[in-house]
Order: sequence, then structure tokens, then C-alpha cells
Amino acid sequence: MIVLGIETSCDETGVAVVRSGKEVLSNEVFTQIEIHKAYGGVVPEVASRHHIEKITYVMDAAIKKANLTFEDIDLIAVTGNPGLVGSLMVGINAAKAVALAYNKPIVFVNHIHGHIYANYIEDDFLFPLLALVVSGGHTELILMRDHFQFEILGETLDDAVGEAYDKVARVVGAGYPGGPIIDKMAKQGEASYALPKIMLDKDSLNFSFSGLKSAVINLVNKHKMKNEEINPNDLAASFQEAAISVLVEKTIKAATEHEVKQVVVAGGVAANSHLREEMAQAISALPGVKLSIPKMKYCTDNAAMIAVAGYFQYLHEHKH
Ligand code: KG4
Ligand code: ZN
Repeated sequence: MIVLGIETSCDETGVAVVRSGKEVLSNEVFTQIEIHKAYGGVVPEVASRHHIEKITYVMDAAIKKANLTFEDIDLIAVTGNPGLVGSLMVGINAAKAVALAYNKPIVFVNHIHGHIYANYIEDDFLFPLLALVVSGGHTELILMRDHFQFEILGETLDDAVGEAYDKVARVVGAGYPGGPIIDKMAKQGEASYALPKIMLDKDSLNFSFSGLKSAVINLVNKHKMKNEEINPNDLAASFQEAAISVLVEKTIKAATEHEVKQVVVAGGVAANSHLREEMAQAISALPGVKLSIPKMKYCTDNAAMIAVAGYFQYLHEHKH
């Protein structure tokens, strides 16, 4: 089954062609990062306008790279939610147009499911499986007992971890997108500032990042008031250490409690070098648990992951 995936939920216009949920024949992404940099963050109206300008071009490029025609497509998978409404609509309309013109079935994929299934491109899934979803809008621990069965074990009570990264980057004047910049700065610093590691109730698998974010803001303000210099690299390292250790510890707790066979890390923050290292080390201490983290290009928003999730969603919906 050949699936055409379409992703336009935020600031990446993505179209991909994937065979049987695994073989990526093409994966075209036009990123708007440079455009939004000028505003210090994603501006929804600007995002949807650029999706409109690029979608046809990106779609043609994906089909051409795959060496196929639209006739060869068996299924169209498009991100249906969550995301910026105006941006989502561009992808959905493009998907509907192709579905109508070529008489193809269409599935509307949850963006988070896409991030989880990005892991399937390189690794098969072993159930029960635990997914740590860490993106700009989500921080969740999800248990899967089979394909397309999602049970939320824990989630953030306030900010998403990616959102905290972006905010901290703004506070230290590092710019947008904050995650990769803080990641780089942290490598050159020491985690020398005392920041809270917010675990909530000891039994809880929920997260909270607003307290950590506020602690960083307070620290910066205090230094400013006293006319003292702050070391931005040390601050980045301290923030990163506090945020990532919570993610790793809660993941290990959930993996142990539910006796999972595999842990997958999903979403933009999965690109974080410290998270990748710390998680690998922690999971290696759990016998019989396999760890998957997508390649960098499949961590951030892309359409290949939507095509893979769409493939499994279609199989799940047509099981009987
Ligand atoms: O999954 P994604 O591309 O978009 C959403 O679905 O939200 O995630 C974007 C988030 C942003 O907050 C970005 O700062 C963060 O992922 N991110 C990172 C890194 N690369 C991207 N956070 C920490 N370290 C990174 N290397
Ligand atoms: Zn995403």
C-alpha cells in the first residue's frame, strides 16, 4: 500500500510518499523557520499563507522524487489535528482535492500519533510499548498495547517541555527556535544554577514545566536588578538538566510499572542531544527494554511520519 502523507499543522509544509508504513520513497519538507525568526515565534496567519504558496510545489516534488504519479497512490493521510487551524486547513484541502480528483481514500491523522509512528520507519514495534511524546505543544507518556491503541498515562498540567525551551531561549535572548539553540548552549556550560526539578506527587506520571520556566525568569530578573552578569550557557545547561532529568525519571518509572518491551521517544524535543544520551543510559539499565529515537529528520515535523501513522490507522479502521 502506497500512502501519500501531508503535514501542515505548524511551520513546516511536508509531503511524503511511504510504502507499507515503512519504506520512505520521498519526504519533502519546506520549513518556514527563517520566515518566523523575524517575529521570534510562529505567526499563525503568516504560516498559513506560506503553506498555501508551497503546498502544490512540495506535493509535486514528493510525487516526482518517489518516481510515481498520483494514480499510484492507494491512500492519502493528512494531519487533521492538533495544530494551527488555518495551517491545518491548507493540508486538509490539498488532501481532499487529490482524493476527489483521483478517487482515493483519505484518513485524518492525529499529529501526535504521527510523531510516535516516526519511530516505526526504522524499528518495528514491540508491545506493550511506552511513548514519551515531547513537542512544542505536548508532553505525554502514552502506553500502547497494540497498534493504534493509545492510553495516556501522564501529561503536562501546564506548559509543554518544548514550549519551556522556547521561552527560556527568549529570556536569555537566544532567539527562535529555542530548543536547538539551548541544546547547543548547554553543551558549552555547566549546570551550576540551582533550579527546581519538578516531579509533582511521587506516584504521578504527570509533568509540570511552568515552575521551572518561572524560576529561570526570576533568576534572570534578580541578576538584572543586582546588575550582575548571568552566564547564559550555564543557565541553559542548568535548565536542560532540570527538564530532561524529570522526563527520563518519569519514563523509567512508567516503563517499569507497565513492564513494557519498548520505549519510543517522539516529537521535536526528541532531537535534544542530552535527552538522547540520558535516555539511552537509563534504558540500558532496564533488561529487555528496547529504546527507539527517530533520526533527526524524523523528530521534527515531517509528512513521512503522518503517512506511516495513516497506514496503521487505515488498517485499524478496516480490520473487520
Ligand atoms: O514536534 P515539533 O517539531 O512541533 C510540534 O509538534 O510542536 O516540536 C517543536 C519543538 C519546539 O519547541 C522546539 O524548540 C523543540 O521541539 N526542539 C528541541 C530541539 N529541537 C527542537 N528542544 C530541545 N532540544 C532540541 N535539540
Ligand atoms: Zn510536531
